[in-house]
Amino acid sequence: MWISWWLWPLVAICAGDRFRDEAERIMRGTPVIDGHNDLPWQLLTRFNNQLQVEAANLTSLTHTHTNIPKLKAGFVGGQFWSAYTPCDTQNKDAVKRTLEQIDVIHRMCQMYPETFVCVTNSTGIRQAFQEGKIASLVGVEGGHSIDSSLGVLRTLYHLGMRYMTLTHSCNTPWADNWLVDTGEDKGESQGLSPFGQRVVKEMNRLGVIIDLAHVSVSTMKAALSLSKAPVLFSHSSAYSLCQHRRNVPDDVLQLVNQTGSLVMVNFYNDYVSCKKEATLSQVADHLDHIKKVAGAGAVGFGGDFDGVSRLPLGLEDVSKYPDLVAELLRRQWTEAEVRGVLANNLLRVFEAVERVSDHTQTPEEEPISLDKLQDSCRTNYGYSEAPSFHHQPGVLLASLTTVLLGLCLL
Ligand SMILES: *[C@@H]1O[C@H](CO)[C@@H](O)[C@H](O)[C@H]1NC(C)=O
Ligand SMILES: *[C@@H]1O[C@H](CO)[C@@H](O)[C@H](O)[C@H]1NC(C)=O
Ligand SMILES: *[C@@H]1O[C@H](CO)[C@@H](O)[C@H](O)[C@H]1NC(C)=O
Ligand SMILES: [Zn+2]
Repeated sequence: MWISWWLWPLVAICAGDRFRDEAERIMRGTPVIDGHNDLPWQLLTRFNNQLQVEAANLTSLTHTHTNIPKLKAGFVGGQFWSAYTPCDTQNKDAVKRTLEQIDVIHRMCQMYPETFVCVTNSTGIRQAFQEGKIASLVGVEGGHSIDSSLGVLRTLYHLGMRYMTLTHSCNTPWADNWLVDTGEDKGESQGLSPFGQRVVKEMNRLGVIIDLAHVSVSTMKAALSLSKAPVLFSHSSAYSLCQHRRNVPDDVLQLVNQTGSLVMVNFYNDYVSCKKEATLSQVADHLDHIKKVAGAGAVGFGGDFDGVSRLPLGLEDVSKYPDLVAELLRRQWTEAEVRGVLANNLLRVFEAVERVSDHTQTPEEEPISLDKLQDSCRTNYGYSEAPSFHHQPGVLLASLTTVLLGLCLL
């Protein structure tokens, strides 16, 4: 068929995907900030964290969802890299393993300064956007990483940790995980124990985002009501679309809305469709649902790339975000809503967390009670001597009164 020459551009537009082009235009100004990527775990398990071996070159890395060309094709401009150590390190070498994962993230930034810049605040993210680099932040996945110590929590903050997931898939001595809701684990802390509440307060004071992916529903509710700053679900989807306990139920989504918090949708098939297979369109269904219940300001992307074994058709690796954005545009999300999902919602939450933080406030000091710690191989300096008076003011007062009374009677 002959088509007049002046019709060609029109044909090209209709044949191409105008939503995909629109997605790229938007993402050039507002790239993705993703909530959770497990590349550091891949670097540990594949290369024992040796970045200089040839196969670990992040430009040509294969068999992973993430490498530098894929990040660029995906318009990724910010990433919370997961400093993850599995639950079997709890009460063993969790702290050491966590430090090593933070170290490998820092070394990624050092080795690829053209691509990554390690930042610790929202201003740093915006600057990285300007420079066309990937703002790299540390998210610690699992409260077991602090080994029940506020001192370790504060030290991880100094090393750049800007969110901490309160649990991974195990209880800590102070917070319950999602397996409590399936009945596989027993609840131990009724959400958050008194020490867990001090952890949340200290995170607010420091300016560490509270991440509720992986926790039980009662932990979600306890943290949402206690935190003075909005919170995050760094990689969780909607429970009402797939009844997996890693997902966020609707009543919690309402609390997310009321607190200005954020759910960054996980792409793992098992959380998207509750089946082995899933599609990009089903991920968009989760985004639509969270938007409907919690608002467009409460949605983000937390792909869980390189942390999962099965990903939806169309979202196989980090280069595919523009296709998901095109799908949202096709579903009539506005440009402002899309920019929110991409980056602005996370920036809003992070900035609110920064505003709440106050390093002039006195730090939380009271340690976890000794009976909550498995004695195993750990020492208990500080607990073993000097039973502290100020924990039993009542007892002290009573003995003082007895002495005084005795004096008066003399
Ligand atoms: C990774 O490989 C590229 C070539 O593919 C090379 O230019 C670059 O220097 C290597 N990077 C490192 C850190 O070894
Ligand atoms: C943000 O981090 C940068 C370093 O990346 C630092 O120079 C700057 O002072 C920080 N800004 C604030 C407001 O803390
Ligand atoms: C929460 O819901 C209200 C009312 O639907 C909406 O105006 C607001 O934007 C929502 N908040 C967020 C963070 O999306
Ligand atoms: Zn996870």
